[in-house]
Formats: sequence, C-alpha cells, structure tokens
Amino acid sequence: MKIFLDTAILDEIRAAVAWGILDGVTTNPTLAARAGRAFKENIVAISEIIGSQATVSAETVSLEAEAMVREAELVTSWAPNVLAKIPCTPEGLKAVRRCTEAGIPTNVTLVFNATQGLLAMKAGATYVSPFLGRIDDAGQNGMEVVKQLVHIKQNYDFATEVLAASIRHPLHVIEAALIGADIATMPFKILTQIIKHPLTDTGLKRFLDDWQTIPEGLRPF
Ligand code: E4P
Repeated sequence: MKIFLDTAILDEIRAAVAWGILDGVTTNPTLAARAGRAFKENIVAISEIIGSQATVSAETVSLEAEAMVREAELVTSWAPNVLAKIPCTPEGLKAVRRCTEAGIPTNVTLVFNATQGLLAMKAGATYVSPFLGRIDDAGQNGMEVVKQLVHIKQNYDFATEVLAASIRHPLHVIEAALIGADIATMPFKILTQIIKHPLTDTGLKRFLDDWQTIPEGLRPF
C-alpha cells in the first residue's frame, strides 16, 4: 500500500521523506489555508521535496466543469507530479472525464459511497478518495465503502487507484491495507503513531543498558 501524507506543511513532508516511506501527498483547501503560504509556491515546494516518483494532489475550487478543467490544467502545469483534485459532483465528473481525455491526472475527492466511487472510476480518475473517517462520523461504515471500491475496481479492472482518505487512527491504516486499498493518506500525527510502539522504546533502552555492561575493550562501537 502506498503511504501518502495528508498535509501541506513542508516540515512534516520533509520528515516523512527522510524516513524513506513516503509515496505522495494530498492537500485540500483547509490544509492549504493552514500552511499559511502562497498556494502555487507551496504545491511546487511539495512537488520538489517528494521527488518525481511521488505525487501531490492540489484541489480545484470552482463549481463548474469548464472552470474546474482550467484550474486542473493550471495546477498540473506547475510540476509533472501534480494531480488535480476534483470533487465528486456532476460538474466534477464532467471535468474529470475531460481531464482524462486531455491526459490530466485527477484525484476524485469527497467520495462518500461506492456509487460515487464507481462513477469516478468510469470517468477515468487516477485516484478515487473515499473519506472513511467522515463516513464513520456520519454513523456509517467508512471502511465498508473502501472495501466495496476495491472490489468494484477488481471486478472491472479499472485503472483507478483506491485512496483511503480521512484516516483518523492507526487501525484505519491496518484495515485499509488488509482490504487492499492502493493508497492510504494520513495526517503526520498518524504516520508518527504507526511508526512507534512503547515496547520498541523500552526494549531498545534495555538492550542499550545491557550493551554498556560489556567491557569497553570488548565492544566494536
Ligand atoms: C483527502 O484527500 C482529504 O484531504 C482528507 O483525507 C480529509 O480528511 P479529514 O476528514 O480528516 O479532513
């Protein structure tokens, strides 16, 4: 499963890149506002930090297809690894279809059920992003939607990658991986949580303490 960070904060992205496990970044207007920098400058900086093998999604904000396509053309012109994030509305799907025909990669966002996801796949989306945490918040089962989309993708051999979004805790990451989601995008806090375990820390301390009991001349370092 590819691991994406859901953030527009450059220091968080740099840290994850240094850990050697980052496959991409997703942003949205809320995250872009939190970054407190010019949008284009920030997306370009992210695209450089993550490198050409990873992608960054930059969201369009217009509500009509024609304007969405124009924004998609603009954001994807900033760097070769930028995708246009487009909301799953009728106008959004129309825009995604046009982008597909023009060779512009897209991430269909704000997907809350499997029918929306199916339509995004049919429109040729590069990624489809079910918001599982927000679905859970609404009293439904977000992971079930991810599962359905993975199944639908396999049934019809869609090229679209299923991107589990709105991840709220480590269990979401494990379940998404078990289901076979192509990608999981998560806040930096969760990426940090899934790396760490208290038993790793206590185990390491014990090993290092015991190492010190070996006489110095008998240790290579
Ligand atoms: C995904 O692309 C979205 O930016 C994100 O996952 C939304 O997460 P939230 O529901 O925690 O805001």
